[in-house]
Amino acid sequence: MTDISILELKNITHAIREKFGYDFSNYASSSFKRRLLRILDRNKINVETLIEKVNNNSFTKEDFLHEITVNVTEMFRDPSFWKATKTLLTSLAASREKIKIWHSGCSSGEEVFSMLIVLKELGLLDKTEIVATDIDKSILARAKEAKIPTKSMDVHKHNYERYSGSANIEKYFSKQPGDVYVFDKAMLEKVSFREVDLVRAIPFSKFDFVLCRNVLIYFNNNLQNDVLKLISDCLFDGGMLAIGAKESISWCEISNKFLTVNAEERIFKKNRS
Ligand SMILES: C[S@@+](CC[C@H](N)C(=O)[O-])C[C@H]1O[C@@H](n2cnc3c(N)ncnc32)[C@H](O)[C@@H]1O
Repeated sequence: MTDISILELKNITHAIREKFGYDFSNYASSSFKRRLLRILDRNKINVETLIEKVNNNSFTKEDFLHEITVNVTEMFRDPSFWKATKTLLTSLAASREKIKIWHSGCSSGEEVFSMLIVLKELGLLDKTEIVATDIDKSILARAKEAKIPTKSMDVHKHNYERYSGSANIEKYFSKQPGDVYVFDKAMLEKVSFREVDLVRAIPFSKFDFVLCRNVLIYFNNNLQNDVLKLISDCLFDGGMLAIGAKESISWCEISNKFLTVNAEERIFKKNRS
């Protein structure tokens, strides 16, 4: 199958919403379609059969979510962003007793591990609480396990070296049999991992710093607007928001509540409620 019609897209979105309670109708249609086509191709089926499989439970909610979401991530992804984050955390710490951070769309946790390292190196771990959320339960389970295959370590190491000048990221891991590195368990205790679907979420806490990087890009403008409103409601006045390198808030409803702190690294400060 090479394309999916608008009607087929509507039908599968409807079936998923009815059966699993997830609403993908406001995802960016081009990437959503690409992921659907990948599912169809891998399973050698058409949309009609996928809908049947969803309805008769032979394609589970977990299978679907795992296939439809894009979980690509890296430790210290965009090293210059992490340099800016280091400066930002230092100034947040100077004016606060505690720093509360929300990683929204944390995938398998590499962004969270990076944050823990930055905080540890700044001596701020004890001052920090981190909540890390994702829609995908299976990716959260991987994040909690915090295992990195040796073969992926090179990219993390390279990014960390660009961030800090040191290549020794391994000191934060223990090497285990079976070619995996496991992230420092004591540091991970700072993190509470939770399942949160940004489409349905309501403000659940207040934070000093929210990272929602490389997540908005999968949503259409309406959903980006709603999610940014949710995030804004979850930020204290003076709190910081970081989005991905290809994402923007300039056009959306909440943009007048934010000042740009670092345009290049897409970091914004909430100025007023
Ligand atoms: C490309 S990853 C980004 C990971 C990390 N933030 C980074 O920049 O490296 C996008 C993540 O967003 C999550 N996601 C997609 N839709 C979501 C939703 N409705 N609610 C919460 N998370 C969602 C996916 O499961 C995936 O783990």
